[in-house]
Amino acid sequence: MSQTGEPLRYVSAARALHWVTALLVLSTLPAGLVMVQEGLSRPLQNGLFLYHKNIGPIVLILVMLRLVLRVLKRPPPMPDSVSRPQAIAAGVVHALLYLTLLLMAVSGIIRVQAGGYPMEFWDPLMGGLIGRDETLAEAASAFHALCKTVLIVLLAGHVGAAMIHGLIKRDGVFSRMWPPV
Ligand code: HEM
Ligand code: HEM
Repeated sequence: MSQTGEPLRYVSAARALHWVTALLVLSTLPAGLVMVQEGLSRPLQNGLFLYHKNIGPIVLILVMLRLVLRVLKRPPPMPDSVSRPQAIAAGVVHALLYLTLLLMAVSGIIRVQAGGYPMEFWDPLMGGLIGRDETLAEAASAFHALCKTVLIVLLAGHVGAAMIHGLIKRDGVFSRMWPPV
């Protein structure tokens, strides 16, 4: 709590950016998982690829904005109910979430461009940054898939912990990021 009795929160821009990013990641991730499956109809697969390739770079921009904002507006202190080791663990997971998202977006862009594929909406801005290179495309594809597994594990821990704080402990950690604006 602050001195006025208000719960301590991230600033509203940080909360808005968190929830928009969460929404986009929680749709881009399943879209990616489904679109690489065998036996999908062409229109469905094309639609998922189109969504995935065009939303991914938005996630990259949002993460960079969040990191800049985080430097300008430091997060509020943790409530006393959170022990020092817990706070450190949360900090490590948050840092790894940022890093994994950055790596996913960059490896996705490299995979698409080195594979000689279009990025549609983003081509005028970042098309042709990387020339065609099958070896690089394959390496980026393998790395992208590896990052996906790391991201899923981190998200399970992050969302699970947020739920425990929000629904069971009700200790004010969830409301640090709520409401979204
Ligand atoms: C239902 C889903 C989610 C819930 C309930 C949730 C909840 C929260 C809460 C309560 C915090 C504040 C924790 C604290 O103050 O220490 C937080 C921070 C954070 N969340 Fe989430 N989150 C969700 C989804 C996501 C997703 C999908 C991502 C990204 C992939 C994400 C990334 C982050 C990061 C990086 C922070 C740290 C913010 C900072 O200190 O800069 N969250 N989340
Ligand atoms: C930052 C958020 C991103 C997330 C969470 C994400 C997630 C995923 C996931 C889960 C897969 C399926 C991998 C598998 O199961 O093998 C995938 C595949 C793929 N993603 Fe992403 N991705 C992101 C960004 C991007 C970006 C920015 C691009 C390109 C512009 C991209 C292009 C691709 C491509 C082309 C595949 C198919 C991989 C292949 O067949 O080699 N992704 N992504």
